[in-house]
Amino acid sequence: MLRRIELHDIHYSYVQGSAEQSIFSGLSYSFANIGSTAILGRSGCGKSTLLNLLSGIDRPRRGRIFIDGDEISAFNETQLAIYRRRNVGIVFQSFNLVPTLTVGDNLRLPLELNDVAKKQREHRVDEVLARVGMRDLRERYPEELSGGEQQRVAVARSVVHKPKLVLADEPTGSLDAQSGMRAIELIRDTAAEIGHALLIVTHSRAVASYADTVLTLDDSGQLAGYREGIAW
Ligand SMILES: Nc1ncnc2c1ncn2[C@@H]1O[C@H](COP(=O)(O)OP(=O)(O)OP(=O)(O)O)[C@@H](O)[C@H]1O
Ligand SMILES: [Mg+2]
Repeated sequence: MLRRIELHDIHYSYVQGSAEQSIFSGLSYSFANIGSTAILGRSGCGKSTLLNLLSGIDRPRRGRIFIDGDEISAFNETQLAIYRRRNVGIVFQSFNLVPTLTVGDNLRLPLELNDVAKKQREHRVDEVLARVGMRDLRERYPEELSGGEQQRVAVARSVVHKPKLVLADEPTGSLDAQSGMRAIELIRDTAAEIGHALLIVTHSRAVASYADTVLTLDDSGQLAGYREGIAW
């Protein structure tokens, strides 16, 4: 089980032409016993950027990231790809399903990449699709699904290979209250079942209330414990 994520003096900025927008300028934080942790923050404060750094999709300009003692910020591209494939499940804010693959094949992909045997693979795909109420739509392509249905597939895909860490970016943004609850419960129950750590970024206090720990990311790129009465 993944226990500890440490961020040391993280600096990150987006550069566009001659303009530079600083998102993190010296973010340090230690997540101990992550369990399920929600990070609340205003739109544009850097939540998706933070998840991209934790998954190794982006690299900090300066600073170090340790996951259970492994310095992922020092990994080369191959090491990062292997780390992600084995240990991380991501629910992207924009879903990122593979458009040329059916729902079923989108879910089979992480299992194939991890060499899971065919019989086990089919069982697992069936199980997670049932959990998000998408079993009957497994032969559809993503473009034949509503936004909410794509999001449910994205949630199912993030947990199908039983990763150690699930990073979820507004995983209920396109869902009605009931589907949203089912999606969050799927992620949370899988956490309980296989002991993965869950980091979820959201604007929604309702979603955050499912987590054991709630943090805030403020506009200056700092993480802190959530206090009642924060307004945005
Ligand atoms: N590829 C990019 N190039 C330039 N600027 C970017 C890029 N991606 C994000 N930004 C800017 O960086 C800031 C942080 O973006 P980020 O996507 O991390 O915010 P967020 O907290 O996830 O917001 P939201 O809640 O709206 O999803 C925003 O001001 C955004 O405009
Ligand atoms: Mg975002």
